[in-house]
Amino acid sequence: MRTQVGIVGAGPAGLMLSHLLHLEGVGSVVLEARSRDHVERRVRAGVLEQGSVDLLVENGVGDRLNREGAVHQGINLQFDGERHRVPMTELTGRTITIYGQQEVVKDLVAARLAAGADIRFEVSDVRLDGLAADEPVIRFRHRGRAEEVRCDFVAGCDGFHGVCRDAVPAGVLRAYERGYPFAWLGVLARAAPAIDELVYCNHPAGFALYSLRSPEISRLYLQVRPDEDLAGWPDRRIWDELHRRLETGDGWVVNEGPVLEKGVTPMRSVVVEPMQWRRLYLAGDAVHIVPPTGAKGMNLALADVRLLGQGFAAWYAHRGTDLLDDYSRTALRRVWRAQHFSWWMTSMLHRFAEDDPYQERLQLSQLRYVVSSRAYATSLAENYVGLPTV
Ligand code: FAD
Ligand code: DHB
Repeated sequence: MRTQVGIVGAGPAGLMLSHLLHLEGVGSVVLEARSRDHVERRVRAGVLEQGSVDLLVENGVGDRLNREGAVHQGINLQFDGERHRVPMTELTGRTITIYGQQEVVKDLVAARLAAGADIRFEVSDVRLDGLAADEPVIRFRHRGRAEEVRCDFVAGCDGFHGVCRDAVPAGVLRAYERGYPFAWLGVLARAAPAIDELVYCNHPAGFALYSLRSPEISRLYLQVRPDEDLAGWPDRRIWDELHRRLETGDGWVVNEGPVLEKGVTPMRSVVVEPMQWRRLYLAGDAVHIVPPTGAKGMNLALADVRLLGQGFAAWYAHRGTDLLDDYSRTALRRVWRAQHFSWWMTSMLHRFAEDDPYQERLQLSQLRYVVSSRAYATSLAENYVGLPTV
């Protein structure tokens, strides 16, 4: 089999890239390890920056997003038992939209398949060959048969545990990393959200986040130990902990309902540089991850492939190499801004040690400064809604 761009991974990055290339008349094949059903049900992120919404809408995959996404103009920071609103739109003129990542994935899969795309789900043993000779070949197994795709370029969009990054010879890439001594326990519940806008909460017992998906579905997160066993968190304990951390004693309560899904997400910050080697281009979680506190993961994945799509388009239109040559350098500017913002939000909102009163005082001082200084609040808001690519 031969195609122009071989894409590994059908997450937001791989699917959006395939769609953008199609609009530019460039062919691609997408290889995905999991089933279509699995990728369309995987509950993950939920916050789209305005730039991500614009990208989806301008490229014809935003109809359901426009109908069903919830546009938010602010977020709340809660600490010391008080809730404070950061009026993001007043401060920046921009909004965010709540729309589940699996809905973005569903919309993109539907658009690609409607256009006759070749997406192979449930492939295994994916291996990249021929990169050093600039003749990429992706070998894999599908429905019990060994197959291969020959292509001009490979886009490694296969997430943090993917195989593309490892196809680069040792010594070429460098990883920059930070670990955190906690994880998030996330629940999706059939419960009407008791909030209109997200609540990020610093609490002595640990961070909590109140988010939503629709007027009937709440999405909630609790800081837990990094090695937390879900078995130790029956639904009753989760709700008790959410009540304890999120309620401020003024009569407002977290609404309970049947838990539809729950899972533990470890937290790390990682950037791997450069994001390209020869004809292999890496995008999204395959080459950088952030702790979810800044809501940046999916947005970065989409921003990467917007650049990469433009680069491939220029190459096929007139053999232009400037954009592809600059891909890693340009993308890394946004990546590092999001790294810093995600690290900063994480540091300000979580409990890092059992007993570190000095750090807790620093966090509270910083939070109080953010909600009382227009300059500091604007800095948080412009990062949260997404800075333009520069
Ligand atoms: P992915 O969505 O990971 O897509 C990669 C795809 O490649 C997957 O479909 C995978 O099955 C496939 N793949 C992997 N290996 C292979 C292979 N060898 N061959 C073929 N296919 C392969 N961000 C937030 O902002 N908030 C959150 O609450 C949040 N929660 C998260 C929870 C979890 C468990 C994870 C893993 C991430 C979470 N994120 C969250 C981050 C956000 O979801 C990611 O940043 C986003 O999914 C990145 O998109 P992507 O397309 O780069 O990667
Ligand atoms: C959601 C996830 C995040 O990581 C975040 O910072 C805000 C909201 C969510 O899943 O709704």
